[in-house]
Amino acid sequence: LSVLVLHGPNLNLLGLREPQIYGASTLSQIDDRLLELGLSLGTKVECLQSNHEGALVDAIHAARSRHQGIVINAGAYTHTSIAIRDALAGVQIPAVEVHLSNIHQRESFRHHSYLAAIVVGQISGFGPHSYELGLRAIVAHLQKSAS
Ligand code: DQA
Repeated sequence: LSVLVLHGPNLNLLGLREPQIYGASTLSQIDDRLLELGLSLGTKVECLQSNHEGALVDAIHAARSRHQGIVINAGAYTHTSIAIRDALAGVQIPAVEVHLSNIHQRESFRHHSYLAAIVVGQISGFGPHSYELGLRAIVAHLQKSAS
């Protein structure tokens, strides 16, 4: 089993960026933890961050031949990107949407997600732990659909 973890714009700044909202962990700490968790779940994990919408679309397309599942924090593109939604729907790779913050508790422009309707489910509000829950959720989903 192989899962792609995609981080969208500004998530490279984690640890520095609004730590009261997003926490003190850096992206590389989060990625290290996900690789470790992947090992314990018997799943290969590959992590990729981009600030560019098209690069995220390309990464989703490229996942087709390499990964069975996707965990995605699309950052602000969550609320704007029909292109990322269409890419996920187009490749038909099951995905879990994650957010560090609880987007439903924040400004109203963060309440709507273009991805929510086409992903398996959404995890929001648990800080860096959201990613771990997301990885566990996609692995459980893939194992269930394989059996
Ligand atoms: C975020 C929430 C988004 O609204 C925001 O634009 C982000 C991060 C989160 O992880 O809480 O960049 O996706």
